[in-house]
Amino acid sequence: MSNILIRGGTVVNADQAFQADVLTQDGKIIAVGPNLQAPAGATVVDAGGQYVMPGGIDPHTHMQLPFMGTTTMDDFYTGTAASLAGGTTSIIDFVIPNPQQPLMEAYQTWRGWAEKSAADYGFHVAITWWDESVKRDMGTLVQQEGVNSFKHFMAYKNAIMCDDETLVNSFKRALELGAMPTVHAENGELVYLLQQEVAKRGITGPEGHPLSRPPTVEGEAANRAIAIAEVLNVPIYVVHVSCIESAEAIARARARGQRVYGEVLAGHLTVDDSVYRHPDFAIAAAHVMSPPFRPKAHQEALWRGLQSGSLHTTATDHCTFCAAQKAAGKDNFAKIPNGCGGVEERMAVVWDEGVNTGRLTPSEFVAVTSANTAKLFNLYPNKGSVSVGADADIVVWDPAGTKTLSAKTQFSKGDYNIFEGRTVTGIPSHTLSQGKLVFVQGDLRAERGVGRYVKRPAFNANFTASKLRADVMAVGAVKR
Ligand code: URP
Ligand code: ZN
Ligand code: ZN
Ligand code: ZN
Repeated sequence: MSNILIRGGTVVNADQAFQADVLTQDGKIIAVGPNLQAPAGATVVDAGGQYVMPGGIDPHTHMQLPFMGTTTMDDFYTGTAASLAGGTTSIIDFVIPNPQQPLMEAYQTWRGWAEKSAADYGFHVAITWWDESVKRDMGTLVQQEGVNSFKHFMAYKNAIMCDDETLVNSFKRALELGAMPTVHAENGELVYLLQQEVAKRGITGPEGHPLSRPPTVEGEAANRAIAIAEVLNVPIYVVHVSCIESAEAIARARARGQRVYGEVLAGHLTVDDSVYRHPDFAIAAAHVMSPPFRPKAHQEALWRGLQSGSLHTTATDHCTFCAAQKAAGKDNFAKIPNGCGGVEERMAVVWDEGVNTGRLTPSEFVAVTSANTAKLFNLYPNKGSVSVGADADIVVWDPAGTKTLSAKTQFSKGDYNIFEGRTVTGIPSHTLSQGKLVFVQGDLRAERGVGRYVKRPAFNANFTASKLRADVMAVGAVKR
């Protein structure tokens, strides 16, 4: 038996915060309450003056992703080790089949790659093409493999882009299966056209990247995906909402009663588009990701989305490429591999910019860093809650601790940090994963291969309600 007693802290869940000790045993939380006794041999963690919160869940990472002719720097081990150092104890990554590749083959490949993970993980599976086998394999993934969400890239033309026919077929199938359709919302046709037009104006550097992907391009795709979901009566989750246009599309749909959910990245909340005009190519290129960083006014809108409840989760889209990889687009911004890091910094950045500024309470912080993701992707309350019976995935959070974020001190393999030089107040002092201390005051004890694949069962309530509503509202034939 292995026990850890976390003593003297304030437990923070999404619904309440209270003074309590937390006792774990063999990977689970077995008691939460005042003045708990330490069993013989227990390790005691002093959490005095600190918060005891559910470990973060990052619902959007790309470890070891082959993308745009290269593969990300962080693999499933280094990426999840870095996440543990930042207080994130689970990730949901993406299986991305090539067009025409059987889904199950891609899924097995990613499962193999992920075996080296140091933290628990799950997968969304991307639908990049359509035929009967894809439809069948979606069923197998949901019913046998614990995949309850499917991703659709509305951008990346001539690669993994999903057209409207595939979107409609896949959303319909997802509804049948009780699985959440998710979208990367950018109009891939417009991006493709704008890339050529920007290049014709002689713009070949990273400053061309945001010009080829303006907010309207994202807003159009978000509105389209939401409208398709509305017609089909299926809930929908929009990943990496970066701008006012798509945040408003979600808010409007929710105001109409539609079940639409939005994710926002720590980077989009805090980094603006001035980075693309940096005179050093390497620095500007290091920020090339899609959707791009936006002018500051958009950041405030994203925060308001989290505050008002029209955006639900925070993620990172952790997808690290080093300077040598980014240099593939030295003469053409459209060839710079898209992606940035952040899995290690998300919790601290969202705390520092969210809780320390009064935008979020500690409980709201828990909602947007773990609990909402756990609920939306059916991991709750095993994950996303400090309660008896939950997994002992816990972060002990020192609200007075400070750290200056930097590529020089990060655990992640990337050679750049989009939060470089930012000093945050509020950092993890301890991280527990599966009831083991994996990070203690700066000392990372991540273990390769101990992370578990977490099955996520299909949904019931949201989908049943959406179907019921459709039936109630259905207009029948006229009897003549
Ligand atoms: O630029 C990004 N975001 N790269 C990863 C793939 C994606 O679009 O999520
Ligand atoms: Zn994306
Ligand atoms: Zn992504
Ligand atoms: Zn490299």
